[in-house]
Amino acid sequence: MRKALSILLTAAMATSMLAACGSSTPTATQAPAETKAAETQATTAAEAVAEVTEAAKDAAADGETITVGFAQVGHESDWRTASTNSVQSALSKENGIDLQFVDCDNDSAAQLEAVRNFIQQGVDYIVIDPIVSTGWDTVLTEADDAGIPVIVIDRTIDDSDKYVSWVGSEFTNEGLAAGAWLKAYVADKGISEVNALVISGTTGSSAQIGRSDGFDKYVEAEKWNKIDEQTGDFTQEGGQKVMESYLKSYNGQFNVVVCQNDNEAFGAIDAMKAAGVSYGVDGDVIVISFDACTAGLQKVLAGEINADFQCNPLQGPDCLNIIKKLEAGETVDQKTFMAEPWYVAEDKLTDITYTNNSGKEVTEPLVVVDQAVVDAAY
Ligand code: AHR
Repeated sequence: MRKALSILLTAAMATSMLAACGSSTPTATQAPAETKAAETQATTAAEAVAEVTEAAKDAAADGETITVGFAQVGHESDWRTASTNSVQSALSKENGIDLQFVDCDNDSAAQLEAVRNFIQQGVDYIVIDPIVSTGWDTVLTEADDAGIPVIVIDRTIDDSDKYVSWVGSEFTNEGLAAGAWLKAYVADKGISEVNALVISGTTGSSAQIGRSDGFDKYVEAEKWNKIDEQTGDFTQEGGQKVMESYLKSYNGQFNVVVCQNDNEAFGAIDAMKAAGVSYGVDGDVIVISFDACTAGLQKVLAGEINADFQCNPLQGPDCLNIIKKLEAGETVDQKTFMAEPWYVAEDKLTDITYTNNSGKEVTEPLVVVDQAVVDAAY
């Protein structure tokens, strides 16, 4: 029963994705043969959805458990722990789901193997948080051929469209917002030169690519001096090591450090503290971070991190919702963006205006962190 349901879902998924890409909607300029093919696809989709609904009803009546394989990135950060907890509590036994969880320990080969194992096991759905954004098309084709719908969360897959839905963050906007905030902050403080060091995340992850791209737009436009950018792999240890090496090479030459997640910021702060470098609101070095986990916001409240751009890890409920909709034969959104506020330590700037990754000028509030904000964090 579950297998048959998966195959039907994939038929519906393929057709709805084609429709979303504009390939299956007949237009005035389409040749008759194409129009016919599109009509056939639409009929097939409608039939598939109807069959899926029936199959889902049968499955529910049978009280069957839905098996989901989740190939998680690893356990490198506070953010990741929150993400794992969110998915595990949403895709739970109480919600009718048997979750097979694999921690891929930031190893792309292990992640591909985990997905292949899920395909072999014949799970009903696969959830992937992709460590890197490329190298996915072959294994996703295998999942598609096996009739197993794939849901992508958090980071994006950029070389394949063989998944039903993605829910995550607009990483480029996070980087753009950080740049826009720094521009406004240095103007307000009368700081004329920006000499920045960047501690980036896992190279090739969409979180790293987007945050670097977004911030670099400001580096270029404002003619800031980006002294160096090296990866700390989204870990505290990595952030500390990179900062220790930066301090050997550039001590006294930088006034901004951009850490692409909170754990890297914790490591960088420890290294600056040990070297006697002052940082944060009352210091010589402005600290920018991403994630805004509880410990990160505690450091914003303490004035050790100047600004923290949230990356929201609570994708479990959306994931469950997508599965429920697919089970009910409903169509799902191809993309869902998480809501993400921007947090600051000082109250002088109330908002930032910037052109976002969709080319739209937006004005977004800056939230000054107090104890209530920390208490409400993930
Ligand atoms: O993909 C999200 C990023 O990965 C988060 O910023 C980071 O903390 C995590 O490791």
